[in-house]
Amino acid sequence: MALYSEKVMDHFRNPRNVGVIENADGVGEVGNAKCGDIMKMYLKIDDDVISDVKFETFGCGSAIASSSMATELIKGKPVSEAMQLTNKAVAEALDGLPDYKMHCSVLAEEAIRSALDDYYKKKAENEIRDLHDR
Ligand code: FES
Repeated sequence: MALYSEKVMDHFRNPRNVGVIENADGVGEVGNAKCGDIMKMYLKIDDDVISDVKFETFGCGSAIASSSMATELIKGKPVSEAMQLTNKAVAEALDGLPDYKMHCSVLAEEAIRSALDDYYKKKAENEIRDLHDR
């Protein structure tokens, strides 16, 4: 059996949603200290729905494939649903990852979680600012 599924190879070779969103509503960056890989996610959110998502990943093929698949899984979804995305769901959508590469999918889960945390933080700050401006 091939080490990597066709889906992993496809998302590695043709990653979806690569890039940067200027003035993103949420940005999250995470890294894995052991392998040194870094993943950054940008979210555009309208009415609590993820209208756009982009990523930059400096890492291995599985990390690139995981980021690409994760962005596809949350695009167009409500924030509450994106918050539930697990690394297992990402790996399953890729038709599996080798055990020693599962941490690459964890990075994708963490990057999205971190971008969503940033979104909630900014949202709360804006609400407080609005209250003060009244
Ligand atoms: Fe570390 Fe893939 S080897 S994210």
